[in-house]
Amino acid sequence: MELKQMVGIEAAKYVKDGMVVGLGTGSTAKFMVDEIGRRVNEEGLSIIGVTTSKNTEKQALELGIPLKSIDEVTAVDVTIDGADEISRDFQGIKGGGAALLFEKIVATYSKKCIWIVDESKMVEKLGAFPLPVEVMPYGSQQLFHLFEEKGYAPSFRKTETGEMLVTDGGHYIIDLQLDVIEDPRTLGKYLDELVGVVEHGLFLDMVNLVIVGHENGPETLTSPY
Ligand code: 5RP
Repeated sequence: MELKQMVGIEAAKYVKDGMVVGLGTGSTAKFMVDEIGRRVNEEGLSIIGVTTSKNTEKQALELGIPLKSIDEVTAVDVTIDGADEISRDFQGIKGGGAALLFEKIVATYSKKCIWIVDESKMVEKLGAFPLPVEVMPYGSQQLFHLFEEKGYAPSFRKTETGEMLVTDGGHYIIDLQLDVIEDPRTLGKYLDELVGVVEHGLFLDMVNLVIVGHENGPETLTSPY
């Protein structure tokens, strides 16, 4: 079985009857949503899903998973999502699938967050994966130049046909090639304060459990957060 599928199925075990469940985005999360869909249909599992992207919403609706928006629920019991990189101290980069804004909103209002990754995503320090920054289109060229001046090697995320990628929230993404992020907290605060930045892909102190897929089985790591 593919590692991404293994952790998707493992994570779905944390979903219990009556829960409100945040449904992440990406190729790993897709397996988890499939498994929850299977349990809804075959085991009569009764949950409400809160999706983090239009893609996941489409998948969940096709599977018959009942959905509500984040604004229609009082809280989310557990959110299960993928990640692009996770450092040894349980900090993460997300947004490779361009869904970081909705993912961060749903994760923020969740009682518990679980990330599911194959072992290639576990790193010593964050930064080899380009850090996505979601920005308002208005003024985005100014932010791009600012990032260039800072030496962040920015690039606008494009679609397969070469057009500017527009997120589900109607924004652009600028990817920063930082190589190594020595101090994620300071960088996160800096990006938070920039006018025109809507959100960034540093997910700090957010995850409670990480399920890592290895050839010999899933490994579950508990974070201090
Ligand atoms: C989407 C994300 C994804 O969770 C992340 O990119 C991992 O994706 P995949 O499971 O396809 O490797 O943050 O915005």
